[in-house]
Amino acid sequence: MSTTANTIARAEEVITRCKLLAAFSEDAGSIRRTFLSPPMRDCHSEITKWLAVTGAVVTVDAAGNLRALYPGARSDAPRLLLGSHLDTVPNAGAYDGILGVVIAVALLESLEKRHLPFAIEVVAFSEEEGVRFGFPFIGSRALVGSLDEELLNRHDSDGITVRAAIEKFGLNPADLPRTALRDDTLAYLEFHIEQGPILESIGRPLGAVDAIAAQRRMEFVFLGRANHAGTTPMHLRHDAIAAAAEWIVAVEHAAQSHPGLVATVGQISAKPGATNVIAAEARVTLDVRHKSDDILGPAADSLVRMAHDIAERRGLSLRQNILLSQRAVAMDPFLVEQIQEAIRSTGFQPHRMTSGAGHDAMVLAEKVPAAMIFLRSPGGISHDPAESVLTEDVANALECGLHLFDQLANSSELQKRMSRA
Ligand code: GLV
Ligand code: MN
Ligand code: MN
Repeated sequence: MSTTANTIARAEEVITRCKLLAAFSEDAGSIRRTFLSPPMRDCHSEITKWLAVTGAVVTVDAAGNLRALYPGARSDAPRLLLGSHLDTVPNAGAYDGILGVVIAVALLESLEKRHLPFAIEVVAFSEEEGVRFGFPFIGSRALVGSLDEELLNRHDSDGITVRAAIEKFGLNPADLPRTALRDDTLAYLEFHIEQGPILESIGRPLGAVDAIAAQRRMEFVFLGRANHAGTTPMHLRHDAIAAAAEWIVAVEHAAQSHPGLVATVGQISAKPGATNVIAAEARVTLDVRHKSDDILGPAADSLVRMAHDIAERRGLSLRQNILLSQRAVAMDPFLVEQIQEAIRSTGFQPHRMTSGAGHDAMVLAEKVPAAMIFLRSPGGISHDPAESVLTEDVANALECGLHLFDQLANSSELQKRMSRA
């Protein structure tokens, strides 16, 4: 089925806006935008300009989330939340997270001042990737009330705490309780690029996410002995980099032999860091995921045991630290059904799928029914400047979103939820 010329034009505008936001970066020549970094302010002011036309009321909450309230037909209408994140990984693409925010803005514009039985709150989350503080979902955690003292006191590589970063941006951590989800929140919906190859491989533009995979993130420090690279015989070394390297390759083999398991060592650094010095210390991170909690737990434990065995055999010690332990999260079955129906109304067969990537939706799901719509990722590429999205897929996502609004506005299940809200 073809989308209207109007929707295509809006989709083109969505892509132009994503590219425009990509220019707001901490790094010259590549995209990097971490929690409450200066370019985040530029994003806020640009998005606020777009939102002003819709009549939505825009604020920035104490966790740095941009929030825009588009009123419902009645002043006491409950809220439907629509959002994604504005932060990025280093050397990022222009669409991860940002596309979901920009699509949400475009959906408000598409309503052309039509008001629904529910208000729509667009939330552009300040932090989802975990780059600056080594811990993800700061923005969405604030909404579910789990941005606790321990997290507020975490610090970045410059020693700045989350609390100080909030203050430096001109926000007040004492207002954090006011960021919490209201009791009359009906649901949270998130549009996002798939970031993988599945939709493309089956030739479908849109997917309905029914679950988000469990993940564990850890850091390990292999502690060996620094010594002279020229004089220390090979059999007398306690080389931290060599130990870490042996473990990294073992992690890759283990994940390859475990169906559905993905394990990544994405960071490595070593001290003292000189060509002619055997490394005393190697710090590595681990990111390990599976859609089943029952498989992820034992698999991750076995990777940890492997690290200990390698360290012990090489006469090193090992420190380890869990950065994140996130259980698999099911999306709300009613919303998943509704998304599938909206994809069908747009003219396509929906594909139900598990997300291997983490998303704000998995945090919001702790408190409110949540679900996601995936857009096909050309080449399956994400977390890289080559990340892209097709204009026609964005147009289809916009049409799907409008069908979804209408379905939800007319659904008896949502009427029940609205009367309880
Ligand atoms: C988010 O991008 C993730 O790493 O899952
Ligand atoms: Mn990401
Ligand atoms: Mn994302």
